[in-house]
Amino acid sequence: MSINSNIRSEFYLEEGITFLNHGSFGAVPRAVRVAQEEFRLQFERQPIRFALRELPVLLRSSATVLGEFIGANGEDIAFVENASTGVNAVVRSMIPHLKSGDEILTTSHVYGAVRQTLLYAAECSGAKLVEVPVPFPIETNDQIISAFEGAITNCTTFAVIDHITSPTGIIFPIEQLIAVCKSRGIAVLVDGAHAPGMVELNLETLGADWYTGNCHKWLFAPKGCAFLWTHPERQAMTHPTVISHKYLMGYTDEFDWTGTQDFSAFLTVPAALDFYQHHGGADLRSANHALALEARNIIATAWNKPHPAPDDMIGFMATIEAPVESMGTLQESLDLHDWLWDNHKIEVPVMPFDGKLWIRISAQIYNTRDEYEILAHVFDKNGL
Ligand SMILES: Cc1ncc(COP(=O)(O)O)c(C=O)c1O
Repeated sequence: MSINSNIRSEFYLEEGITFLNHGSFGAVPRAVRVAQEEFRLQFERQPIRFALRELPVLLRSSATVLGEFIGANGEDIAFVENASTGVNAVVRSMIPHLKSGDEILTTSHVYGAVRQTLLYAAECSGAKLVEVPVPFPIETNDQIISAFEGAITNCTTFAVIDHITSPTGIIFPIEQLIAVCKSRGIAVLVDGAHAPGMVELNLETLGADWYTGNCHKWLFAPKGCAFLWTHPERQAMTHPTVISHKYLMGYTDEFDWTGTQDFSAFLTVPAALDFYQHHGGADLRSANHALALEARNIIATAWNKPHPAPDDMIGFMATIEAPVESMGTLQESLDLHDWLWDNHKIEVPVMPFDGKLWIRISAQIYNTRDEYEILAHVFDKNGL
């Protein structure tokens, strides 16, 4: 167990760039990529034996290992390519159970692609999508809970809650939000795209109906590795987005085969978890959290901006208002992103949210304090 200061060489990231966006797509360690390649070769050496005999066993054993890490029974875990697919499986499975006049509840911090999926479900079913505004900057969890609770009506039947928000990078109090939903008989899907690896999970006790999370963001898995956990009582109604041979033959059977594909990323979870634990596990989480707070401090001080959320709402990402004049439009966010990359080789997302532009930094073990200093001082002389 060690947190290695020369760790960057264990990743494929280019030299000479300031890479502050682990959050969007993660970055796979070389060791995990090598393990993935082995599974690809295993498929190629005897494809029929692999697909019929080896893959089913490997998938279930990978799910069991993942389950031990996220506090879940492996039989309740299905692999999906990404959180979008996990969300789609649940939301599309819900469509036949929604009726005209029902309300689907989410918040203004929802990920854009998830919002579109919910709009699709609303369009198909006649239900209404209700997006409750949650303020940002924010000071307390109670602001989130009371906004959310206040938006529930007798028509709310389904809620989709972020665990860690994309545009603002804050951790939502999902235990309390789920409890509110359950007390009103509302089905809950948690979008935990950023959570695995960033916060400790115990899905058995959380109380959600569904939880989807990415392993390719903060758990060091290769791209295309995510999971959908489904409460046993919801499994019969939950189907993958691609219906295949095993339709209606059981939750894991339906999800474990949705057509020929590259399964290697799913099978690499044990290798990714080995890397994660070897580099600290809980200590890695503390170190990344501390680095995110330090980075936010460096940047907010240089830009003379307040901290928009308390420390305990931050995980490995932090958002600071960009020190530029703007109306907070999408085009302005794209322009500022491109300016930072094209002129300074700084890769960092610029998020338009609530009429302002926000810069969301990530902290992963290969990042150093110096990189945040570069971003903090990039506006000093240059102007835009
Ligand atoms: C909150 C949230 N949900 C869903 C997604 C989609 O993840 P993916 O691209 O892996 O499907 C993201 C991606 O960043 C996200 O931040």
